[in-house]
Amino acid sequence: MLHFPELNHGKCKTYLVACERTRKALLIDPVRDNISRYLAFLAYHQLRLDAILDTHTHADHPTGSFQLRDLAQSRLIMHRRAPAPGVDEHVEHGDRIALGELAVQVLYTPGHTPDSISLYAGDRVFTGDVLLIGGTGRADFAGGDAGQQYDSITEKLFSLPDETLVFPAHDYRGNQSSTIAHEKRHNPRVAGRTRQQYIALMASLNFPMPDKIQEVLQPNQTAIDDDRTKFPDLTELNQVQQLTADEVSALIASANPPLLLDVREPNEYRGELGHIHGSLLIPLRDLASRSTELEAHRGRPIIAICRSGVRSTTAAAILYGLGFERVYNLKDGMVEWNDRKLAVEH
Ligand SMILES: [Fe+2]
Repeated sequence: MLHFPELNHGKCKTYLVACERTRKALLIDPVRDNISRYLAFLAYHQLRLDAILDTHTHADHPTGSFQLRDLAQSRLIMHRRAPAPGVDEHVEHGDRIALGELAVQVLYTPGHTPDSISLYAGDRVFTGDVLLIGGTGRADFAGGDAGQQYDSITEKLFSLPDETLVFPAHDYRGNQSSTIAHEKRHNPRVAGRTRQQYIALMASLNFPMPDKIQEVLQPNQTAIDDDRTKFPDLTELNQVQQLTADEVSALIASANPPLLLDVREPNEYRGELGHIHGSLLIPLRDLASRSTELEAHRGRPIIAICRSGVRSTTAAAILYGLGFERVYNLKDGMVEWNDRKLAVEH
């Protein structure tokens, strides 16, 4: 396996690994500002960009994955719970990503976000923002969960061999790498702490919200990056009432069924997760311009639906802004609907 020095030389880390014989390369967590650099680097080293992978949906920088995938005609890989459309391959815990003669193993390590994965390859692990060097990624927004994060770190990452090299997606102190043994013993967030103590510690940190977080996060969640879409702010998103799959299922069977509004792309609506019978398809990117189609349903409650419940929360907040009052969101989206074995059409 070829593993090149980190490519950005900044706080956000982008890694490139490749199969030496076949020259097939995997780029991990590319940032949009450095796309030209990555393409030049690949060309110089005579590598073919076989796959691109985001370890999770990033909140701090625009991802380069969508553009790079299109430019290099590569494939984009993310966890099954990643909210964005246009992911070519969804992976789960235990999957192996073939890269020429190499196999990279996927570990599902949620907590920083619900779609966080780590990649275990040979003697090293790429941990995304779940486990950092001497730290852990924050778990207080974008679906984070400190308890899950503790489990991911202590049960999955810390069960790797002690000498495994750790390469995180961020570092703020100039570190290059660490080891599992070092983090087990010295990571000040985790070492010597119980799960409850870790949850209490993370809740006490009170980091300020990053500037413009929604302006970064929502394009990464939706793969929409144009001037036509005005994304709601955090307050508007938090107002959206979330309904579980079972609650939605009960409403559908009630005397006054709601309008089901699916905001995914047409290929997803007809894709592997299917859609709920009777749902109206208006992709998120067209929602504002096509909202007149909803006027006929103004008296009914509307339930917004997407892949993982993230884009549809944005859709519900947009509809509130347009004066629709009874708008709800299907929590965790069609992924959860399918996991609950509720009925779908294809
Ligand atoms: Fe992150």
